[in-house]
Amino acid sequence: MNAEKKVHKTDFLIIGSGIAGLSFALKTATHFKNASITIVTKNKKNECNTKYAQGGISTVWNKTVDSFEQHIQDTLIAGDGICNEDIVKMVIEDAPTRLKELIDWGVNFDKNKKGEYSLGREGGHSQDRVLHHKDITGAEIERALIEQVEKAKNINFLTYHYAIDLITEHQVTKKRITRKEKTTCFGAYVLDEKKNKVKTFSAKVTMLATGGNGQVYSTTTNPVVATGDGIAMAYRAKAEISDLEFIQFHPTALYNPGEYPAFLISEAVRGEGAILRDYHGKRFMQRYDDREELASRDIVARAIDNELKKSGTPNVYLDCTHLDYDAFKKHFPNITEKCLTLGIDIRKDYIPVCPAQHYICGGININKKAKTSIKNLYASGEVTRSGLHGANRLASNSLLEGIVFSHNAFYNLTKRFHKIEFPTNVPQWNDSGVVKNMEKILITHDRNEVKTIMSNYVGIVRSNERLLRAEKRLLNLYEDNKRLYDHSELSTDLCELRNLITTAYLITQFSKNRKDNKGGFYNADLIKKEL
Ligand code: FAD
Ligand code: SIN
Repeated sequence: MNAEKKVHKTDFLIIGSGIAGLSFALKTATHFKNASITIVTKNKKNECNTKYAQGGISTVWNKTVDSFEQHIQDTLIAGDGICNEDIVKMVIEDAPTRLKELIDWGVNFDKNKKGEYSLGREGGHSQDRVLHHKDITGAEIERALIEQVEKAKNINFLTYHYAIDLITEHQVTKKRITRKEKTTCFGAYVLDEKKNKVKTFSAKVTMLATGGNGQVYSTTTNPVVATGDGIAMAYRAKAEISDLEFIQFHPTALYNPGEYPAFLISEAVRGEGAILRDYHGKRFMQRYDDREELASRDIVARAIDNELKKSGTPNVYLDCTHLDYDAFKKHFPNITEKCLTLGIDIRKDYIPVCPAQHYICGGININKKAKTSIKNLYASGEVTRSGLHGANRLASNSLLEGIVFSHNAFYNLTKRFHKIEFPTNVPQWNDSGVVKNMEKILITHDRNEVKTIMSNYVGIVRSNERLLRAEKRLLNLYEDNKRLYDHSELSTDLCELRNLITTAYLITQFSKNRKDNKGGFYNADLIKKEL
């Protein structure tokens, strides 16, 4: 591999092309007409968690029946006492304005016969308030945003460009930086995956919008690009990170062994009245929560986990047989079709489901303005810990978080961008002393091992012994990977493995340090009362 012998200068460097990255790009491109904006994304333009979002985006749209106060309360209850109330209030009150912008950019949300937006419901919501596009809301959002980005003359959209590391004083001064020191971000090193060259991007502002890290688990709804790169890069750059122990497992991924990632059966299906049944066809949610099937996700996922452990069976069922088939098919055409391809006719068959990793609630600390603890480094979306979700994210609050914080970052920059200078002395990537990695299979083995460790020991229900085992095994993997990384020619899969190990280790450490069970964190040794 060659390090490219030049430095690419761009005013804004945006890493990631999900809802957070693209909405930030559009806002900056429209306002700063003379600025250069570069989006780098490691796969196709639209490959990201956003693309797979099904249920939709929550917002208080119909104020005659709903109110900001109710949405705020639902979010706080789901977050299990550790949301930042100011942030929750800000996000929920801004939501309708941000949603109108998405509509103006061309996102089509479904309407009812009266021509009003049709509002769905999901777990933890006390009202119908989820705007959606059938059961493919995320794909519709990506379509509309990419169409707008392609029209913008000052955006350079680079696909198959993989961000390896952020550039800070650490690279510029060659000094070891401690976590307490104030640092500045000067851009990033990016692997051009097609040309196999590392490019150096020097930027006035860097936006990290790299999404989550579901790929650390064996069963996840997240696509293969979700490898925690942003969290790991920020951690190496000494940014503040928190709440990584709060992992959200979606209760109802389709149980279809061999399919990876897992196909999601949207919570909106339960919002329409679908019922959970155990392996023998009996209802069970009434024994766990008064809200039954529409309790928050952490509660439903743990209830299913408990049922599976008790019965020794691999799945429970979602019963839609009593629902109006035509209405169901209209709202959920993708799910209906997927079931049919597997021979499941939802009019008479139950859908086999089980929980799967779905979302990471913690991440890089940001403030209201989407600023991280590193100067000129902003972050937005699933990669962050903004204070909105607390210990457990309320369904359909995530796409919302991305558009609100990307707007806030943009707005903050309208006030300070003119004062930011281009960095000087940004060193090019140094690839001396590396050799071609001949044994790619080692990367595959290690990647699988991370998934097994995390699923076995750092899953829905953890314990002190399990966490200790995970820590020891991940440390071994870290050592092996470091040796490989330091001497091998870089590749995306090697860098991803490094980030998977880092984030898996961090989730384990945060879990070890947590002394009370909350939301998406549950350590059986801390339980006083059995489920
Ligand atoms: P993403 O959309 O994941 O985008 C991250 C981007 O960063 C991608 O383009 C990726 O390729 C890129 N990237 C990552 N690392 C690098 C790197 N090193 N270099 C370059 N590029 C990189 N939330 C809701 O609110 N409502 C829903 O209905 C909903 N349904 C969901 C259904 C599924 C199946 C899944 C998986 C998630 C769902 N979520 C939903 C969660 C939500 O989709 C995500 O949290 C949200 O889309 C995250 O947006 P983002 O822009 O932060 O990240
Ligand atoms: C779903 O449709 O069930 C996913 C919604 C979400 O993750 O917010």
